[in-house]
Amino acid sequence: MITIVQATQPKGRAPLLAALAAAMAIASPVSHAEEAPPAKDKATLEFEKFRAEMEDFGPAELYEDKGAALWKEKRGPNNASLEQCDLGLGPGVVEGAYVQMPRYFADADAVMDAERRIVWCMVNLQGFKMEDIAKKPFAKEQYTPDPTSLVTFVAGKSRGMKINAPQKHPKEIAAYNIGREITGYRAGPYDFSCSTCHGDAGKRIRMQDLPNLTSPDGALRSFQGWPGYRMTGGVMLTQQWRMTDCFRQQRFPQPKYASDTITALLTYLTVNASGQEYKGPGIKR
Ligand code: HEC
Repeated sequence: MITIVQATQPKGRAPLLAALAAAMAIASPVSHAEEAPPAKDKATLEFEKFRAEMEDFGPAELYEDKGAALWKEKRGPNNASLEQCDLGLGPGVVEGAYVQMPRYFADADAVMDAERRIVWCMVNLQGFKMEDIAKKPFAKEQYTPDPTSLVTFVAGKSRGMKINAPQKHPKEIAAYNIGREITGYRAGPYDFSCSTCHGDAGKRIRMQDLPNLTSPDGALRSFQGWPGYRMTGGVMLTQQWRMTDCFRQQRFPQPKYASDTITALLTYLTVNASGQEYKGPGIKR
């Protein structure tokens, strides 16, 4: 039996909630999805239709705008903007950078995904403290952390471009291999790995049909629509959040914010999704 996404939207999002409820009501008669073939079932198709409509409405754009303003603003102890931040294509080049991360950055001697790199720039250019940023890294209720808006802005500048995470530097290749290992690593009280839930096409928990992360199609789902405005809760969330929350679902200890572990996973997923078009920040249920 399918449970409907819970109506936990904060007040003030009533129209969105109503629209969501309407879409879900259409979708709800579909049950026993486990028996359905892996092809998209009715609930998924209805949701996709609804998402397309919501994307026209564009809740992510608000965060893109906010991120664009933050990018230019002189802030932090060093009173600097992020306009000199190098996202891999040279200082200040934002266009196309998102679809070409995670990548190796010599100045940090590390592979970094977009969010990790932006936070690195906030620390190294603007003088913010990592401990402070890591205290509340993800959106909750009415609160949206600055890195989330910044990532959304940067991601928007890769809309319509092909995903193309580099695999040239030895550390980029190592990150991919580590990511693959993590995906298959079983541990914790339930002996789950990512693949326990995500290994097969067509697996479904509650309303969600879970992508097979090892296939190009499934891996694309880890990239497409992220950062995403999540209708459950009405908040903007990044891939960093998605990964962290799946560790929670897996009953693993939560990795540190912007850690090597998350970058490795994102490297694995992004490389598997490479060659496909990124449509920009979107909507997630
Ligand atoms: C206990 C089952 C479970 C495990 C284990 C799990 N996930 Fe998930 N994952 C989910 C569910 C459920 C969702 C969808 C949640 C939602 O959208 O509300 C999801 C969503 C995702 C998505 C987003 C898909 C999309 O359409 O946007 C990605 C990517 C992902 N998981 C990756 C991982 C990775 C990597 C791991 C291992 C570190 C992992 N998951 C472990 C259950 C799991």
